[in-house]
Amino acid sequence: MQQFSVSPKITMFKTCGEFIQDYDINENDLVLTIAPIWTAYFQNVHAGTVIDMEKYGRGEPTDEMIEAIGNDIVKPYRRVIAIGGGTVLDCAKLFALKQTLPVTDLFYKKIPAVKEKPLLLIPTTCGTGSEMTNISILEFPQRHTKFGLAADALYADEAVLIPELLTQLPFKVFAASSIDALVHSVESYLSPKATPLSQMFSIEAMKLILNGYKTIAAEGRQIRNSLLSDFCLASTMAGIAFGNAGCAAVHAMSYPLGARFHIPHGESNYAMFTGVFHKYMEINPDGAIRHLNETIAEVLECDSSAVYDEIENLLNTAILQKKSLHEYGMTQPMIAEFTDSVIANQQRLMSNNYVFLDREALIDIYTKLL
Ligand SMILES: [Fe+2]
Repeated sequence: MQQFSVSPKITMFKTCGEFIQDYDINENDLVLTIAPIWTAYFQNVHAGTVIDMEKYGRGEPTDEMIEAIGNDIVKPYRRVIAIGGGTVLDCAKLFALKQTLPVTDLFYKKIPAVKEKPLLLIPTTCGTGSEMTNISILEFPQRHTKFGLAADALYADEAVLIPELLTQLPFKVFAASSIDALVHSVESYLSPKATPLSQMFSIEAMKLILNGYKTIAAEGRQIRNSLLSDFCLASTMAGIAFGNAGCAAVHAMSYPLGARFHIPHGESNYAMFTGVFHKYMEINPDGAIRHLNETIAEVLECDSSAVYDEIENLLNTAILQKKSLHEYGMTQPMIAEFTDSVIANQQRLMSNNYVFLDREALIDIYTKLL
């Protein structure tokens, strides 16, 4: 049984200029990015095709966006480079395959995922960890949910970390994306697929993020640019952890919520996070969650029985205010609908839950957070 693997080579540069000097971006490259990043950092670089993802829609990637981009790429290319957040990286993974369209057939495995082109992923947020995983997540608006394709053909050949690219992130984007990484770290820690090796990455990522939040709480938001290397590393470490052990119910339950109300992924995860973990504690407080809570308690200098309240206090005051689900527009009748959507569409994630969560448990989690 495979214990642990780290697939893409990881390279780190302090600045974009150093990266550009080392990598020959040329006419054989297909670049997926967003215009503000390309203009600010890659002005004098000439690639074969540069796709501005924001032209195809803002927010989470959809199947329709992939179809539109695929139809617009007319020039042959030999390498795919993605520079952006999770949306950009997840889309780019699909264009390194032999056949991408129709993308619904790819996601429903009617056509195989076969890697054809080298893929280089450069994250510009500190959350998704997408640069380290073999997963691409798309929203399928007609099905009212998000759906992930996991296949080894989606691994990048190289992940390049450049903290400078994160300096212009609006604080809210920084907040949501780093909370996403925090959730990756704790969900992967508790996954039945976790191993001592994956848990080491989970714990280190979690510590870096919570300690970074403590520094921001103590010194103010302006301090975050001095912490970007830590957050970049934490996000990648959490990506390694969940790439091996998987995410679980927090992600699964946030997908219908995020898809319906167009909530940023990290923010919808935060809306679900402590609700799911309180349920875990209710069902089995004595397994791996006990050690996780003790470790969080050490970092936050609080009692292990209060860690989820303390995380919320820290996040609400310094990072991002948690909202109740009704504040996004969720209503009582949607609870059963969302629950059934999770059970029908998110078994890839639900199989990684710390303890089994039945329909009643999911309904209870949504109800308490409403
Ligand atoms: Fe995530």
